[in-house]
Amino acid sequence: MNLETAKRAAGEAAAELVQDGMRVGLGTGTTARWFVTALGHRIAAGLRVSGVATSYATQRLAQEADVPLHDLTAQGLDLAVDGADQVDPKGNLIKGGGGALVREKIVAASATRFVVVIDSTKLVPALGGRLPIELLGFGVERTLAALERTGGRFFLRETPEGEVERSENGNLLADGVYPQIEDVDALAAQLDATPGVVDHGMFLGMASLVLVGHEDGTVEEINAAGRTVDAGG
Ligand code: A5P
Repeated sequence: MNLETAKRAAGEAAAELVQDGMRVGLGTGTTARWFVTALGHRIAAGLRVSGVATSYATQRLAQEADVPLHDLTAQGLDLAVDGADQVDPKGNLIKGGGGALVREKIVAASATRFVVVIDSTKLVPALGGRLPIELLGFGVERTLAALERTGGRFFLRETPEGEVERSENGNLLADGVYPQIEDVDALAAQLDATPGVVDHGMFLGMASLVLVGHEDGTVEEINAAGRTVDAGG
């Protein structure tokens, strides 16, 4: 199975959606990196855009690709492009396998259009399994106990050296394991209402378009929520 061809096809198709003058959110992961690289090629050919990186890895990649970067301001973004770990038939996502979910959600929510780039293995009939989550360190054992009452088992992430893994925001990263999620909206509301949760990896009703790359290099478009938000001018 050649997933790299599929990821590349999706990332490069997303780069074609960028128009001159846009402010663009740059996602994190092995699919979004193809988007950033392709955007760099378009910039080298004369496109004028600037980007907001969702992680240090993406920041470094954008710098290597000569994509001008700026901080996220009140003005918001025209377009954000990012990968996902799971996409359900309604275009709801689970993200955060790479640990960048908080910045990714801020950036996605700041964009007029949020385009998701995936290979076809990310399409699922229903969200479930592993759900990344970012937690404050203070009282984390209490927070984990509260989270387990939502029906999942929760595990703090560890580095290869056995240390607790921290996000780029200095918080703790954990994963919930839910055999199945009956009601994604209800679970998201429960997680949002749990003190100590910084944010979680469910991105519900946020995607405008999903670009699914296939191993033969073709790309399928799935119109998701068709979301349009006021990006602040
Ligand atoms: C990063 O924190 C994640 O949200 C990624 O966007 C997601 O895990 C998809 O990554 P890949 O494209 O590498 O599978």
